[in-house]
Amino acid sequence: LKQTVLNKISVVEDLDSLNQIRIETLGKKGPITEVLRGMKDLTAQERPQVGAFANEIRDVLQTAVEERKRVIEDKVLTAKLSAETIDVTLPGNQIAKGNAHVIQQIIEQLEDQFMGMGYQIAEGPEVEEDRYNFEMMNLPKDHPARDMQDTFYITDEILMRTQTSPMQARMMEKHDFSKGALKMISPGRVYRRDTDDATHSHQFHQVEGLVIDKNITMADLKGTLLKMAQELFGEKHQIRLRPSYFPFTEPSVEVDVSWDEVTDKTQPEDIKWIEVLGAGMVHPNVLAMAGVDPEIYGGFAFGLGPDRFAMLKYGVDDIRNFYLNDVRFLAQFD
Ligand code: PHE
Repeated sequence: LKQTVLNKISVVEDLDSLNQIRIETLGKKGPITEVLRGMKDLTAQERPQVGAFANEIRDVLQTAVEERKRVIEDKVLTAKLSAETIDVTLPGNQIAKGNAHVIQQIIEQLEDQFMGMGYQIAEGPEVEEDRYNFEMMNLPKDHPARDMQDTFYITDEILMRTQTSPMQARMMEKHDFSKGALKMISPGRVYRRDTDDATHSHQFHQVEGLVIDKNITMADLKGTLLKMAQELFGEKHQIRLRPSYFPFTEPSVEVDVSWDEVTDKTQPEDIKWIEVLGAGMVHPNVLAMAGVDPEIYGGFAFGLGPDRFAMLKYGVDDIRNFYLNDVRFLAQFD
């Protein structure tokens, strides 16, 4: 019996069959239990011998069952592990990753550039007071130039800012000029009551620039803008200043960037100029209204449109693309 059962145990491959063998041989109705139960019919001499023999067989078989059980469990586990193995060399699933909006990229590039020149970044409210947006920019209530910027009014005194220029006044008011120059750029959204079309959007962006100190001249303005244009469009691009009018600057200029690179051989008449921003020397009235003495201090200001920069840089012909949130368009600039 012992050997037959041991043989059976050694080949059994699953836990259920093993359990079956255990019940059949070692269980209550099994032969060993039967022998032990039949002890009472034996003589006193026979009893210890038979008992010891039966117990020994029982122990051997029990141990064999236990061992086989461990072996089978081991096999099952190994099989399970190898079936579930992760192949770490397989390429993973590509996770779509977002990126900054193309306008934001241009703004951040400008911020980096101007921070490198010691400018501070000053962001301001999009819902602005008429006082800052217009009056302190030398545009009193009845000024005809207010028509240049069709405005979303919220109340008589509160409006959606039409330009980032109000940040000039806000920053000049706060600045302690005894501690040195004020150099800032102010990026942000602006709003105008325009009908949207390929070149107009009722919401767009501006980056304001302002430098106020003693002895600032138009040459400083030109040098700053040339450097900015060349960093953005490339070393070989040139800028051109044309006389213009803004109520808050005098003199005022409009600034063009050359569409192509300009070399020694380029004929002036061959250069294609693209208007990119407005600028000028800060008007004495603007300084005075912000509490800065125009007899001592002066400086330049400029206002540029990142939307327009992006259109030029990437050849986008419809400004509305920037505001439709169509990822197929936006993902091109990732
Ligand atoms: N704020 C002006 C505009 O929106 C641009 C500008 C800013 C011009 C600063 C000169 C100086 O038209």
